[in-house]
Amino acid sequence: MSFERTLEHARARDGADALARFRGQFAHPLGEQGEPAVYLCGHSLGLQPLSARQRVIEELEDWAALGARGHESARRPWIPYHELLTHGLATLVGAQPGEVVAMNSLTVNLHLMLASFYRPDQGRSRILVEANAFPSDRHALSSQISWHGLDPRAELLELAPASGSGEITTEQIEYFLAQRGDEIALVLWPGTQYLTGQVFDLPRIAAAARRAGCAVGCDLAHSIGNVPVSLHDSGADFAVWCSYKYLNAGPGAIGGCFVHERHARSRTLPRLAGWWGHDPGTRFAMGPGFDPAPGAEGWQVSNPPILSAAPLIASLELFADAGLAHLRAKSVALTGYLAFLLDALPVEVLTPQSVQSRGCQLSLRLGSDARHGRAVFEVLQRAGMVCDWREPDIVRVAPVPLYNSFEDVFRFATALAAALKAVG
Ligand SMILES: Cc1ncc(COP(=O)(O)O)c(C=O)c1O
Repeated sequence: MSFERTLEHARARDGADALARFRGQFAHPLGEQGEPAVYLCGHSLGLQPLSARQRVIEELEDWAALGARGHESARRPWIPYHELLTHGLATLVGAQPGEVVAMNSLTVNLHLMLASFYRPDQGRSRILVEANAFPSDRHALSSQISWHGLDPRAELLELAPASGSGEITTEQIEYFLAQRGDEIALVLWPGTQYLTGQVFDLPRIAAAARRAGCAVGCDLAHSIGNVPVSLHDSGADFAVWCSYKYLNAGPGAIGGCFVHERHARSRTLPRLAGWWGHDPGTRFAMGPGFDPAPGAEGWQVSNPPILSAAPLIASLELFADAGLAHLRAKSVALTGYLAFLLDALPVEVLTPQSVQSRGCQLSLRLGSDARHGRAVFEVLQRAGMVCDWREPDIVRVAPVPLYNSFEDVFRFATALAAALKAVG
């Protein structure tokens, strides 16, 4: 079925959508003026699954009723609580269960991974990253380089899109690694670029990095729950992510981490250890030695924050129910519909057109310059459209297949046409 620019068409699409039942399982916020909003901001903060509240209440109840006994006797005992998240996360990132663990937040996990996998030596000391990396990743990389007594200005290599293009191609990355890989100790690459929405071919990038002898890690903040990922097969050494975007686990929710199976029993990789990474069989013997749990769990440091992990249980249940393949198929159609509607408007879409190179998000330039674009964005906000502005002039819009509809997309495009007209 091809797309049409009518509300009836959008509603017909929703009527035929087998995933439409999930929309009602989320809390939908109102707009700034209290009007029904169109929420297209799941790339920033996913909506609250209604079942999350109950999951959190259950933990509060068990804490009230059981105190410390909850560690063993809560309905979901707290000591092995993180294990409840493993299967769902492993499915979403294409990993074996032993390769993933829910813990901390993204940047903290990135530091923990860099402590193990960034091992600069005289021959190879550099880190390769994309030029427009999320600032927190850049701060983490620069500070790790400094931590090793090196100069980030010399050691951080930032690969920019070829001039005139907003995209970094896989060929460009492969070429760079083939030329300069022997200087590079570690490559950090995003699964999905946070600003442009470009989805990268992680298996090819990881393979090129490994061919060049570099360690390789991925930031999946904008990929997990958004696009298919196969971390195990990609061969990446590690990956990190947060759960508050497409995973809908709430502000500051527990993040996650992947460590490839080949490092599962490593005793040679240094790590910043803590008691929760100790083999759970002997953790409570409270001995002085550190015996790491096999797999990603061995990188845990502290006991998990139960109240920030509980909503993720609720969300992963919804993902399991909907099925990733179905979600991706709907996402391709939803974002395709948005691209189709935008095609008739005077806006610039920065996100690649090819379906393989994008997920939910489209990144837009709305006006002739940043000031004009900002004015259009503000009119959109007042019309109840929830998307976000990223400096200097980019508006990010993401229809999410779990809770957005074709009608949402239609309403957004209609509001955008009106805003462009109003601002002139
Ligand atoms: C791509 C990317 N990396 C890192 C972060 C930082 O995440 P956290 O604050 O959970 O460390 C974000 C947050 O939005 C992000 O989008």
